[in-house]
Amino acid sequence: MRVVVVYESTRGRTKAMAEAICEGVKSADVDCDLINAPAFKGLDDACALAVGASTRMKRPLPKVRQIISELQPLDGKPVAAFGSYGWSGEAPGFIGQQLESLGGVLVESPLRVKDYPDDAGIEACMRIGKRLAESCK
Ligand SMILES: Cc1cc2nc3c(=O)[nH]c(=O)nc-3n(C[C@H](O)[C@H](O)[C@H](O)COP(=O)(O)O)c2cc1C
Repeated sequence: MRVVVVYESTRGRTKAMAEAICEGVKSADVDCDLINAPAFKGLDDACALAVGASTRMKRPLPKVRQIISELQPLDGKPVAAFGSYGWSGEAPGFIGQQLESLGGVLVESPLRVKDYPDDAGIEACMRIGKRLAESCK
């Protein structure tokens, strides 16, 4: 069992969220692949997927936009969307909609955190990771 967490981040904020999601996955005894978007090759046999990007000009960063536009159908796979933002924060909602339209099932509403994630933000990320892991079992 393996969860894939793919992220794109310019200043490390969404990356910190991705790391906390993976920590949550591992705390539930499930493997986690933390993948920076440019290195993403595909889902292979992953049982669940989280995709995150910060918001730039009201949209997710471009590499994540490309990845979600090229994903194969998700056929009921548990999914999550997340990202840091500065003022309007459209990216996680955009990603979540796209994952759902591919047939993914969101384990939680898309998570957006302003600026660098504080303790509550990290906790929310870990909770998502645990839920993804539990949904694999
Ligand atoms: C060129 C540029 C455009 C941005 N556009 C938006 C935007 O439209 N809405 C928003 O909420 N934040 C916007 N931001 C702020 C980033 O989303 C925010 O700094 C975020 O915390 C960066 O996270 P990251 O380190 O994971 O990339 C923008 C930042 C830059 C540099």
